[in-house]
Amino acid sequence: MVGSVLMQRMQEEGDFDHIEPVFFSTSNKGGKAPALAKNETTLQDANDIEALKKCEIIITCQGGDYTTEIFPKLRAAGWDGYWIDAASTLRMKDDAVIVLDPVNLNVIEDALGKGVKNYIGGNCTNSILLMGVGGLFREGLVDWVSSMTYQAASGGGANHMRELLAGMGVVHGAVASELATPSSAILDIDRKVAQAIRQDVPTEFFGAPLAGGLIPWIDAQLDNGQSKEEWKGQAEVNKILGTAQTIPVDGLCVRIGAMRCHSLALTIKLKKDVPLDEVESIIRSGNQWVKWVPNERAVTVKELTPAAITGGLDIGVGRVRKLNQGPEYVSAFVIGDQLLWGAAEPLRRMLRIILA
Ligand code: HSE
Repeated sequence: MVGSVLMQRMQEEGDFDHIEPVFFSTSNKGGKAPALAKNETTLQDANDIEALKKCEIIITCQGGDYTTEIFPKLRAAGWDGYWIDAASTLRMKDDAVIVLDPVNLNVIEDALGKGVKNYIGGNCTNSILLMGVGGLFREGLVDWVSSMTYQAASGGGANHMRELLAGMGVVHGAVASELATPSSAILDIDRKVAQAIRQDVPTEFFGAPLAGGLIPWIDAQLDNGQSKEEWKGQAEVNKILGTAQTIPVDGLCVRIGAMRCHSLALTIKLKKDVPLDEVESIIRSGNQWVKWVPNERAVTVKELTPAAITGGLDIGVGRVRKLNQGPEYVSAFVIGDQLLWGAAEPLRRMLRIILA
């Protein structure tokens, strides 16, 4: 799915005009390559190290298992090209950079100058967090961040999105006739809905019912009580920024029934009391995709939602205000399409940086 979004974005931005692409597949070797192919018009075998070695740049969204299997073999075979992927396999390696160029172009350029060849897209929540409030980090204002997430089904993959929708249908189907009858008792409807969620909503991919509910755990359990998704917050944010001293980033990651927009409710502890209008101008200056939403009800419920943000590159930032905890404590709600800035977009932009 990320690969399809990547292809779409690369076509929209004319990326194929700058390369001679060869398309590889793990499952359909010999099949017809996309019409964009200039030389090889059939799909090559993505497990063929000799064929892969001929590429100067490899960009892949095949996932962590593929990277784990193929990347070491390629390097062992002497391949010295650029590897760009979105998997977590290589992200924290010393010879890899996590790419999010609107935020860390300096880190990327420094690495290119030093001959680093591995450029990896970050975890989606972290990329969206930094695309949203990266300006505050850039100004050195952030003491720590509590990041409570609301993560969409797409973070799990295409099957998870289907399961969410199927579950929504099951819930509706359980009470469709009562809903069509205005006089039916809402507590009877609620009882049937609860039963449908417990018994009938499919759980094959999420492992728990998501439709009509939420799942307060994403990814593996670590020994310290964090989920792996939560662990990535501090590790990746600091690596993306190249911080000399670790900025604490932590919070709970929760799966919700949105399709492809991840949201984060942030508590940001600033190093000093910064007036709100300055906080706003610093956040807005972060990058051109920050879509500032004033902390007012009408515009917030219209603009700072998955319905408004899905399918586009804008990163919504709103609900910014000072908290009761003290003048250094600021809230923010950040929302972005996790298949774009959270996955495909940093990869295609890295390609263009290498080609420039
Ligand atoms: N791990 C993320 C999620 C998606 O499950 O939402 C990939 O960054």
